[in-house]
Amino acid sequence: MGSIKNIGILTSGGDSPGMNAAIRAVVRTGIYHGLEIFGIRRGYQGMIEGDIFKMQTTDVSNIIQRGGTILKTARSLEFMTDAGMEKAYTQLKKHNIEALVLIGGDGTFRGAAKFFEQHFIPAIGIPGTIDNDLTGTDFTIGFDTAVNTAIDAIDKIRDTAEAHDRLFVVEVMGRDAGYIAINSGIACGAEDILIPEQVADINQVLARIDNDERRKKTVHIIVVAEHEGYGGAKEVKDIITNRFPALDVRACVLGHIQRGGSPSYADRVMASRLGFAAVNALLSGKTQVMAGLINGKVALTPFSEIVKGDGYAMNTDMLQMIRVLSI
Ligand code: F6P
Repeated sequence: MGSIKNIGILTSGGDSPGMNAAIRAVVRTGIYHGLEIFGIRRGYQGMIEGDIFKMQTTDVSNIIQRGGTILKTARSLEFMTDAGMEKAYTQLKKHNIEALVLIGGDGTFRGAAKFFEQHFIPAIGIPGTIDNDLTGTDFTIGFDTAVNTAIDAIDKIRDTAEAHDRLFVVEVMGRDAGYIAINSGIACGAEDILIPEQVADINQVLARIDNDERRKKTVHIIVVAEHEGYGGAKEVKDIITNRFPALDVRACVLGHIQRGGSPSYADRVMASRLGFAAVNALLSGKTQVMAGLINGKVALTPFSEIVKGDGYAMNTDMLQMIRVLSI
């Protein structure tokens, strides 16, 4: 493994702010160590199609502050097939790529694990997703920025909600995880937060609205994570309107704005540390592990142990706190 000379790098799955900072760190650390670094565009799909180019240090100039990913990203179904993997392997051989750094989520690492079983290409993963839903790291790259984007939006919604005495149901992203909802909701003083990990009792949600109405609490913000159990912001709004027809209720889906924008300091620093660590890990003979941050330190966890995090315990504690803080 000490003889690795050529590394390929790709981003896969949903993009997240800070991916560019990680790419920059990988490219520059690799070149510093005398390696050749090959960018693979559009994730595994680009690998299959041979969309591969040699990267120089200047290719990653002026990107640390940019959202998105200069390598572009995709979710490839073809890579999940034996034939797709064979094509991808052929392309790697063509460019003499001996190892990979993969920035993405659990699907990305599952693909890498299968690819290694079939073609023995060593790989190191870096967690990049706004959802923060992976084990093996306390945070994923992009989560901090996404939460701050949601906070900025919800603060603005609160201004207009207060001006009109309206109740707002705001939907944030997270796929099957409530981390963005919980954290943005707490930070914005939300009156209620609905998450997928623990389906809320809608009668209690309605009772809390009723209580606020009686107390003449004029603003009521409910943050819901997508896939939270009732269908999303619009459906929750409809349930509330049915029960309280006189209330002025609006639904707002924040959507993909949470995926873009300039990464926060936390995401830039974490991405730089993990990119640097990923190349050093490969050079020291590590493979099939994800470089994450646990208690502030870089930790390498085998792909086989990386699963979608069960945020249930943390979320439950936090939900209890929210009830107290929003009285
Ligand atoms: O995984 C990141 C994420 O933004 C999720 O929060 C969301 O459910 C999903 O991707 C949206 O995917 P797409 O961009 O394909 O619509």
